[in-house]
Amino acid sequence: MAKKTINVALFGSGFMGKAHSNAWLNVGKFFNTKFKPVMHTCASVVDAKDFAANWGWRNVTKDWKAVAADPEIDAVDICTPNNTHAPIALAALESGKHVACEKPLAATLDQAREMAKLAKRRTKQVTQVWFSYRGCPALGLARKFVEQGKIGQIYHVRAQYLQDWGGPSTPLLWRFKSKDAGSGAHGDLNAHIIDSCRFITGQEITEVTGSIAETFIKERAIPEEELGNIKGGKIGKKKKYGKSTVDDAVTFIGRLSDGGTASFESSRLSMGNKNANRIEINGEKGSLRWDFEDMNWLWYYNAQDDSQRAGWQKIMCTDAGSHPFVGHWWPDAHILGYEHGFVNLASVFLDRIAGKKKVEVPAADFNDAYQCQRVLEAALLSAKNRCPIKLSEVK
Ligand SMILES: NC(=O)c1ccc[n+]([C@@H]2O[C@H](COP(=O)([O-])OP(=O)(O)OC[C@H]3O[C@@H](n4cnc5c(N)ncnc54)[C@H](O)[C@@H]3O)[C@@H](O)[C@H]2O)c1
Repeated sequence: MAKKTINVALFGSGFMGKAHSNAWLNVGKFFNTKFKPVMHTCASVVDAKDFAANWGWRNVTKDWKAVAADPEIDAVDICTPNNTHAPIALAALESGKHVACEKPLAATLDQAREMAKLAKRRTKQVTQVWFSYRGCPALGLARKFVEQGKIGQIYHVRAQYLQDWGGPSTPLLWRFKSKDAGSGAHGDLNAHIIDSCRFITGQEITEVTGSIAETFIKERAIPEEELGNIKGGKIGKKKKYGKSTVDDAVTFIGRLSDGGTASFESSRLSMGNKNANRIEINGEKGSLRWDFEDMNWLWYYNAQDDSQRAGWQKIMCTDAGSHPFVGHWWPDAHILGYEHGFVNLASVFLDRIAGKKKVEVPAADFNDAYQCQRVLEAALLSAKNRCPIKLSEVK
């Protein structure tokens, strides 16, 4: 029997547009989802004809508003700059579509709140936010270990997301403008590790006790055109400069709902760190450690081992029977990469649309991403006012 199909529309044709196109192209081939996605339309503000043809989008348009309202579209996927998430997602939800949206949920807390409120009212529609690292099997295993009580009460979470592409030669892309991005490294990188903390521990961050935000590169060359990759922009001969209005780095500390302490550090200026998304969790019975640059491995320390054999265990998370998602891919130890995380989460989105109660790993929804946005806001407030901020004060 032919599979049921759902028509997907993609918004944006840049870095994430590519990662998500790959996910929609492959998810139905590797996962036996009830619905098969049809790559119906790609909407971008730039000419995306070549992009759409390359990835197999059947239609292409610059008119995103028409696509958000098009009754032929069942689900939209938003891969555009942060300040455009809210208008696209709200219009799509209003017209009855399922919505998958890139992170951070929005450029501002007000936008994020409105999105989460509407999503809550639209009980028959699925929302998802691409905290893509949830799609890495090792992070799913870390969550399982915490659920199984393997590390006991959590004392510390120590998370970093460090990159180094944001030096002075990187032009004034949308990522450096607060009106487009909301914040800089903070919303871009801390958003991911706040989500990883919530995802693995199942706890909320209840207070930001201190925070520091810094913009080191105050001015950047204005590009004639954005080239659609993280650092890329074509700069004319006569360079004009504009002000960067976002942070380059934000570090903050906070408290978890079960009493543990947590630290989060993000930077685009940590030379030598390319995509160093790392988290370590220390509990009464042991510890967990993960580093995206070695994404197939989870490190586990069992504090109950006798001292003669105690030590960090390096677990390769590629066992079909034991580790999330990998059974859909290759034989054991045939390593997964960055793109698999997106395909894995696309399968969760389709499973949820099909009404499946038990999905492999829970993906973040609009409410999760709104909780994350509250923490982002609390950290910025704490840095600005140089004081602790309770999350109960940030609605
Ligand atoms: N999950 C992840 O790991 C991850 C990684 C990178 C970026 N992101 C997020 O993905 C989003 C996009 O980032 P990117 O790196 O792909 O940016 P990008 O600059 O590479 O691409 C943005 C695209 O959006 C298009 N666009 C802008 N406004 C639009 C609109 N109103 N309608 C349709 N298209 C529009 C642009 O033409 C461009 O094609 C951001 O929210 C970013 O934070 C997530």
